[in-house]
Amino acid sequence: MIYDGLRDWLVKVDELGELRTLEDVDWNLEMGAIVDVLYREHPPYPPALIFDKIKGHANGYRTLFGHFASPGRIALTLGITEEFDHVLEFTRMYHDRMGRCAPIPMEEVRSGPVHEHAQEGKDVDLWRFPAPLLHEKDGGRYLGTGHLVITKDPDSDWINAGTYRMMSQDKTSAGIYIGPGKHGYIHKQKYFEKGVAMPVNIVLGCDPLVWFAACSPVPSGISEFDFAGGLRGEPIKVIRSDITGLPYPVDAEIVLEGEIRPGDLKEEGPFGEWPGYYASPRSLEAVVRVKRVLNRNDPIVSCANPARPPHVLTLLRAITRSAHVWEELEKAGVPEIRGVWSHEPGPRQFTVVAIKQRYPGHVKQAGVIASQCFSGGYQNRFTIVVDDDIDPTRIDDVVWALSTRCDPEGDIDIQRRCWSSSLDPMIHPDSKVLMNSRAVIDACRPYEWMARFPAVAETSPELRKKVLGKYGRQFFGLR
Ligand SMILES: Cc1cc2nc3c(=O)[nH]c(=O)nc-3n(C[C@H](O)[C@H](O)[C@H](O)COP(=O)(O)O)c2cc1C
Repeated sequence: MIYDGLRDWLVKVDELGELRTLEDVDWNLEMGAIVDVLYREHPPYPPALIFDKIKGHANGYRTLFGHFASPGRIALTLGITEEFDHVLEFTRMYHDRMGRCAPIPMEEVRSGPVHEHAQEGKDVDLWRFPAPLLHEKDGGRYLGTGHLVITKDPDSDWINAGTYRMMSQDKTSAGIYIGPGKHGYIHKQKYFEKGVAMPVNIVLGCDPLVWFAACSPVPSGISEFDFAGGLRGEPIKVIRSDITGLPYPVDAEIVLEGEIRPGDLKEEGPFGEWPGYYASPRSLEAVVRVKRVLNRNDPIVSCANPARPPHVLTLLRAITRSAHVWEELEKAGVPEIRGVWSHEPGPRQFTVVAIKQRYPGHVKQAGVIASQCFSGGYQNRFTIVVDDDIDPTRIDDVVWALSTRCDPEGDIDIQRRCWSSSLDPMIHPDSKVLMNSRAVIDACRPYEWMARFPAVAETSPELRKKVLGKYGRQFFGLR
């Protein structure tokens, strides 16, 4: 372990030179706009941002944005210390790490700094915490955008942690949107089928590795705490709530303990979402009723500001989705995967898989599985399979393969009635069908006559070496 909890992680990020603190900023649109402009107009890897002395809030009550928006910060979080100079190489390292490690069960401890303050019942006041109004057309202040929503499967011991946006409603309640098919959604369905409320812990800021796991497509039945423990190589320490019976990380900044009751709905949204739109209108969503709030001194609310890409989450999404799809392809037995890249501007919708073709049908197998597996299936729109001479992260390479190795009539398959959600801007506002179609595109040399496909007109590695040796200094500034 190379850091111990969120606060130590911030010290290490500062040492990397990737942390900035801004003071006296307004929660009312200013924080959101600063993050949006910084991340969209100053790519590739802006710093993480801490806001302090936020208008209307106690000094020291802070927000944090941009945890995972640089390869260096993601490497720190995962404890990856090897050097890498290409984002695909880093994705492969994460994929290899995931493949090697088994989940490690979380470990219970008795107390942590989050017990420094507690409010219960009528004393609960969620407005104490600096929830930002992030985008101009948002329907409210979002306290939960960088948080954990912790639930338990009522039929087993499976503890899930996901990030599902949460809008403050009043002092003791918040509206929560959980997309269909998400694990928290399935848990909620099961409790409600039994006619009982679902207990929930919400953690607004904690060890970034645990949050990283909560935003990653961890398979059903596996707890994100145990997955994170496996990545770290030691158990994640948690405290069990005596109210909900659910765990929360020992370094939690703020914990809301409560429940979601059947039929208890309030208007929530709209919210500027990760595809870059206010995709779904204000609508009735589940409500979290908070029974107790715990917080440590000077708490830090973890936040994210999804918006038109690139935004604070695009790099994270690209790396995690690519690595998980890669993993699932290999687990499904598809050989010779040379790279997977879910492009940042469409990190769920636009996935490229590079393979070394070995047998007829190999391309279609890779494309269909990548477009439908658990990690790749949600809201996918285009899955493109390319040969191994194409760098899947380089859009120039991908467009060249599409333009020269794909005959649309035979090489594009359309799948219908697939897993989507109300956040998909292409679903008509009057439609109740939350499904989309998607294209699986073969942009590889045709397998049957691959050997006779025209040779690529490019400088060979031998000739490249020769001319660089001779003219490198003169023409390319090489020494
Ligand atoms: C900042 C952020 C906000 C998110 N908001 C939502 C949301 O409002 N609803 C939702 O269903 N998923 C949301 N997600 C995606 C889920 O957190 C993600 O798909 C996660 O893997 C779900 O966990 P699960 O598979 O355990 O359900 C969000 C992710 C991030 C990183």
